[in-house]
Parts: sequence; structure tokens; C-alpha cells
Amino acid sequence: MYYLLRHRDVPGIESLDVYAHHQGYSGLRRALSMDRADLLEEVSRSGLRGRGGAGFPTGRKWSFLDQSQPERYLVVNADEAEPGTFKDRELVENNPHQVIEGTLIAAYALNAAEAFIFVRGELLAGYESLLRARDEARIAGYVGSHIFGSDCSVTLKIFRGAGAYICGEETALLEAVEGKRGHPRINPPFPAQVGLYGKPTVVNNAETVANLPIILTQGAEWYRSHGTTASPGIKIFSVSGRIARPDNYELPLATPLDTLLYEYAGGPLDGRSIKAVIPGGSSVPLLVPKSFSVPLDYESLAEAGTMLGSGGVIVLDDQVCIVRAAARLLKFYRTESCGKCTPCREGTYWMSAILDRIEDGKGSMEDLARLPDIADNVSGICLCPLGDASLPFMLSAMKHFREEFVQHIEERQCPLDHSVAHSL
Ligand SMILES: Cc1cc2nc3c(=O)[nH]c(=O)nc-3n(C[C@H](O)[C@H](O)[C@H](O)COP(=O)(O)O)c2cc1C
Repeated sequence: MYYLLRHRDVPGIESLDVYAHHQGYSGLRRALSMDRADLLEEVSRSGLRGRGGAGFPTGRKWSFLDQSQPERYLVVNADEAEPGTFKDRELVENNPHQVIEGTLIAAYALNAAEAFIFVRGELLAGYESLLRARDEARIAGYVGSHIFGSDCSVTLKIFRGAGAYICGEETALLEAVEGKRGHPRINPPFPAQVGLYGKPTVVNNAETVANLPIILTQGAEWYRSHGTTASPGIKIFSVSGRIARPDNYELPLATPLDTLLYEYAGGPLDGRSIKAVIPGGSSVPLLVPKSFSVPLDYESLAEAGTMLGSGGVIVLDDQVCIVRAAARLLKFYRTESCGKCTPCREGTYWMSAILDRIEDGKGSMEDLARLPDIADNVSGICLCPLGDASLPFMLSAMKHFREEFVQHIEERQCPLDHSVAHSL
């Protein structure tokens, strides 16, 4: 049974009639019948953690919002440009009312009269699906003034981005909504104090808010009965790459990685073996097979030296050249770096150029030594986390597969047959 990917059980749930017929908006009804403090308490008790990457507890984040000012905003982040991550896309395209219901629950909890859903530019179908759902909900009185006759009024705007990875970063996203170039802001002040149009703002991921109707209808205790004490609840894992059944899988947190890979996603392609997995989108360190029994929760993955991140599980098999994969990813970060700060702009450029050179068989051992040195000059000093996000995969690939890098240099070519080899 699905709770987030409900369209897989209930065809037509993208329309209000079908959604409402299947308990849709009953979570919002319950939320509106509660005091805001009780609602905050229930969401905190559920243990829900942000699904945008950092896993910050949602209730705690809400409690930081400066309530002393007359206006505040909620912005829901459906930018989803992290390579290997396609869960929000499925949600907004196929189950838009659940994202909208969650947005309204959060807006009520935060006492925000205006909410935005920011959709990545390329997700046109999702954007249109949200627009249709929002308009249906508005006509039915679920969005707008005095929802269900309560004192809660929320205006909901669906904002289409222009397809830049950096706009997923919350402060760049706020700049983009304000109509400016999507560059990150220097913080502090954080959005909870100075956010959209200078007002206190909460930014939450689309999957995060889609969990709220579940928590409100099933209850915080039910939600907590899945996963672990520190990582409760359910999560969508996007599985992609060299795997038999790439797809989104909705599972309790702490499901072992090998269960996801072999039981749900069907294991490696015929005749192949999995050599590494990036478990949380492209910005986290890879895992090698001896760690594949790790439970997919925030703490266990940290202990294994990586992160849950966005839950984008990217599979690399024995036909994937690890150098080519690192070069491909660094090219992504180099292209997506907004260029505002020097370490990110220059660092991603140089690392990308060196990795391309090594992959082309023109690299040297000095090049190999230079990569961690450049990474050192990027790490922890960029304006936003994008520069840091470019490092973990490359560094972990160099640690676990150093011999592949050396082989490229010594043999002056990629050792894999390029007619069958894959980058990612
Ligand atoms: C470069 C970059 C890209 C990001 N992209 C996304 C994104 O596409 N979606 C998202 O929800 N969060 C993204 N984030 C994280 C957001 O800044 C923010 O932490 C998140 O939206 C908060 O929501 P949550 O607390 O519900 O997880 C990104 C962060 C960085 C540094």
C-alpha cells in the first residue's frame, strides 16, 4: 500500500473528485480543527525530517520561524535537479493534491497567508498538474479564503523555475521567486528571520510536505512506527543507473540497501555485478559492496561514511568507468556552479578539466595528487553548499578505486571498452 505514491493504488487521484473520495483533504480538515501549537507538537512528535537532503527535523525548523512580524511565507521546494533524484517529479505530476494539501497544512501551522510551490523548469507536466489541482482546489474552497469555514486563508502560487540546479538551494530559490538571478544569499540572516521579500520564511521540500496529510490522518504514533527512533517514517528512494528495475520505491526508512537493490529493484543487469552505489543523490560519497547491508536511514548511512541526502540511489556496475563517472559528475557541478564565489567557480572548473584529462589518457600522477588539494581549497569555504557537494563522490571514488585512476594514467587510456562502457 502506498502513502506517498498513492496514484499507483488509486488511478485518477490527480483529480480532486478522486482524491477527495479517498480521504483527500481530511488531513487538512483535522489540522484546521487543531490549535497551531498542537499541530506543531504533532508534527514534531512524528519525527518527520526534511526530505530535501539535509534531514533537518521539520517541527524544529517550523519552531524557528520568526512569528513577531505581521507576514511570513512558506515556499515548497520542487526544484529537484539533484542527479539521480526523481521522486518529487512523480509526486507533483501524479499526486499533486497531496503536495497541495501538505502545503496548506504547513501554511496553517506557520500562520503563513501566502505559500509558493517552486517547480523545476523542466518539470512542465508537474507544473501543469499542480496548476490544474490548485485551480480545482480553489474552486472547491480548499485553497483561498476561510478554508472549510475556518479563520485560515492561504493564497497558493505555483512558480515555475528556469531549470538551474542552484535554484534548489533555498536562498537562491528565494531570489528566483523574487524575480532575480538565482544566486545564493549570504547567511545569517537565515530565511526563518529574513526570507522571501525580506519576511520570515520556511522552505520545505515537496516530499516533506506530502508526508503531512499522512501524519494528520494516520497520527504521529503510526508514522513513528515505521523506520527507527531517530529516522522515523517512510521515504521515496529513486533508483537509477545500472539496475534491472529503475524506479521510485516507497519504503520505510532503515530498509537495508541490499533489500532495495536486489528484492525491489531486481538486482544488476544480466551478467553484470554492482561495483558501487551512490545512496543519496550525486552529492554524497559512494558505497562499495561490503557496505550494501546498511539500513537506509540518516544515522546508519552517516556511520557508513555517506549520507541519505535526497534518496537518489545511483547504481554503478562493472561496466562503469569510475573515472568517467567522476568526470561526468564534476562537469555537472562545473556547469551548474552559479559562479558567484571563487572557490566553487574555479574549483569545479579545474577538477572537471583534470578528470577529463585523466579519462582521456592524458593525465599524470601530479594531476591525481592535485585533485584532493583543489578539493581542500573548495571544502567549507563556498558561499553555499554547491561547491562542497561536488567533492564527496570524486574523493570517495579516488579512495575506493584509486587503481582505476592510476591505470588510466599508466596505460594512457581508459581501460574499459568504450563501445560498452558507461559513465553513470
Ligand atoms: C545546490 C543545492 C541544491 C538543492 N536542491 C534542492 C532541491 O532540488 N529540492 C529540495 O527540496 N532541496 C534542495 N536543496 C536543499 C534546500 O536548500 C533546503 O535545505 C530544502 O529545500 C529544505 O527542505 P526540507 O527541510 O524539507 O528538507 C538544495 C541544496 C543545495 C545546496
